Amino acid sequence: MRKNPKEIKIIKSPAALQKFSKKMRALGKSIGLVPTMGALHEGHASLIEMSAKNNDITIVSIFVNPTQFGANEDFAIYPRRLKADAKICTEAGADIIFAPNSQAMYPLPLQTFVYNPSLEHLYCGKYRPVHFAGVLSVVAKLFNISLPSKAYFGEKDFQQLHLIKRMVLDLNFPVKIIGAKTIREKSGLAISSRNEYMTQKEKTAANSIYAGMITAKKFCNRRGRPTCLSITVAKLKTIIQKKIQQAGGKIQYIEIANKSDLMPAKKIIPKNTVILLACYFGKTRLIDHLEL
Ligand code: PAJ
Repeated sequence: MRKNPKEIKIIKSPAALQKFSKKMRALGKSIGLVPTMGALHEGHASLIEMSAKNNDITIVSIFVNPTQFGANEDFAIYPRRLKADAKICTEAGADIIFAPNSQAMYPLPLQTFVYNPSLEHLYCGKYRPVHFAGVLSVVAKLFNISLPSKAYFGEKDFQQLHLIKRMVLDLNFPVKIIGAKTIREKSGLAISSRNEYMTQKEKTAANSIYAGMITAKKFCNRRGRPTCLSITVAKLKTIIQKKIQQAGGKIQYIEIANKSDLMPAKKIIPKNTVILLACYFGKTRLIDHLEL
């Protein structure tokens, strides 16, 4: 955390930020970008701190991107609090907040999208059909506006991180993607801006997500690494499902995927297998993941 935080600069215009970034890159400065939708917490702060440590300039974008929300999702109620976010950005070492409004980002309705038809309809994409095209397209715009040398994303949104890495590879974006570990509460619950939608009771019950995944992982390890390969994916899913359902959660999906290509895993291969899941506690949809 910065000892004497300076007043953070808030830029709202894409053209102004692009001009600033061009100037900085021409001067040989490295730029780290942390894209966010605001309602910042320790998870976001960890990304900002990482960027501030490794770049001359850190830009945090705060934009609740309408194109990645489905019609019945939480776009309207997503928490917006720029003042509190600015404090977190400052303390974590950011230099600039890019906080455009929808009109600035989308002066015309978007007609050009970035899609990944191989992966965007799996896992979360199956239940949020417009989501990943919206994410990839806005991240591509943010890269072109901010001109970062490095961009920081959390493993928390595991499929999102994978899709962004693949977009950068496929489309030759001149930016290095850094993935960062998920920050969790002591209980194991992954910190998320959406956790505040939950009642305390639901939040406590939601600890079963991480507990379920840990039980599955332990089950895997107890059999020993070599026999791991023979444990069926279905058995692990059942372990997690039971834990979450016993706590009152409603499963949307639990899948076990290869870390390398994110395709559904046929076998558990240590270090290359990840549990991906989404479930509801009350009305709140939560996602999580754990490497096996
Ligand atoms: P948002 O949900 O605000 O998340 C911004 C970044 O913070 C993402 O890279 C996310 O994975 C990371 N993050 C969230 N919770 C975290 C935690 N507990 N530990 C570590 N990192 C965490 O993801 C988005 O916004 C949007 O889809 C965006 C990429 C900004 C495009 O609109």
